[in-house]
Amino acid sequence: MSDAVVVEGLVKRFGEFTALDGVDLTVAEGTVLGLLGPNGAGKTTVVRILSTLLRPDGGRAEVTGLDVVAQAAQVRGVIGLTGQYAAVDEYLTGEENLEMVGRLYRLSGKEARSRAGQLLERFDLTDAARRPAKTYSGGMRRRLDIAASLIARPRVLFLDEPTTGLDPRSRLGMWEFIADLVSDGTTILLTTQYLEEADRLADRMVVIDRGKVIARGTADQLKAQVGGERLELTVGSVEGLTRAAELLRPLALDDPRRDEQTRRLTLPVTGGAATLAEALRLLEGSGVELLDVGLRRPDLDDVFLTLTGHAADGAADEAAENAETTPAEATR
Ligand SMILES: Nc1ncnc2c1ncn2[C@@H]1O[C@H](COP(=O)(O)OP(=O)(O)O)[C@@H](O)[C@H]1O
Ligand SMILES: [Mg+2]
Repeated sequence: MSDAVVVEGLVKRFGEFTALDGVDLTVAEGTVLGLLGPNGAGKTTVVRILSTLLRPDGGRAEVTGLDVVAQAAQVRGVIGLTGQYAAVDEYLTGEENLEMVGRLYRLSGKEARSRAGQLLERFDLTDAARRPAKTYSGGMRRRLDIAASLIARPRVLFLDEPTTGLDPRSRLGMWEFIADLVSDGTTILLTTQYLEEADRLADRMVVIDRGKVIARGTADQLKAQVGGERLELTVGSVEGLTRAAELLRPLALDDPRRDEQTRRLTLPVTGGAATLAEALRLLEGSGVELLDVGLRRPDLDDVFLTLTGHAADGAADEAAENAETTPAEATR
């Protein structure tokens, strides 16, 4: 299997600031690579260089064997890009948006119309096709944006945070569309802050932080690298969370992770059932109301926290802010 994307020693500076500091990665043809990292890690910068929107200061990158600097125009002919922020013309209808993009890719009027029709159908937008995009919900816009990036049937698709800001139902729908594209043979490089998304869609992952690759492998390899088990408990109150964290601290290999909203405490531990029993003994008579307790294998969130020192929660906050139910979708 050959590589559809090859990135070697990629460097990008913005003035004094080094945004990419020697990034290496490959994406095998017909597979999905998840590019993960906290906010500001350099994910979008990689995508912009690969899609010829930005020139690197060092290293090189190829897409389907074409150099992104020397053969930029040809690269544009084989890729599709969906940006982090949907690039849809508000005043055009969904159908007009897609036809316009088709014409930009030099399809004939007839081809552009027929391709737009297929994509509107595939992305569940046929009913909304004749409405201006400004009446669309966030989820519908995202779908329209991805449909636009597929007009020219790209062999390689870059998806920069395709589901950030989508509600859970639209996110599931988007995952299905992405899986369909892969089964059609499209190669995908996907950036995301949702680790569940990467776990579900990506064959391999590359984790970057501050412009450098800090880990790579399959989800299973990354989880194995973190090791141990996680003791997870849910308590009745935020005070209980603080108290439980204090009491259980001696059992934890590293700082416990606390989530006040769900009142869940997660501790990296070893020792299996014996550790669980010890935890219960430590909490006995403490007044902490224990609603749920259990042991589990590390998940990708734990991997991310261990590698970068912070949880991948940036997107979650943003999603809450952007959470949208526009009148259009609500009344549909
Ligand atoms: N055009 C630019 N000018 C100056 N700094 C930039 C520019 N684009 C990105 N950066 C900086 O480079 C870093 C990486 O940004 P980005 O690639 O957007 O990260 P990510 O997509 O992982 O959140 C950030 O610190 C960002 O502020
Ligand atoms: Mg970004």
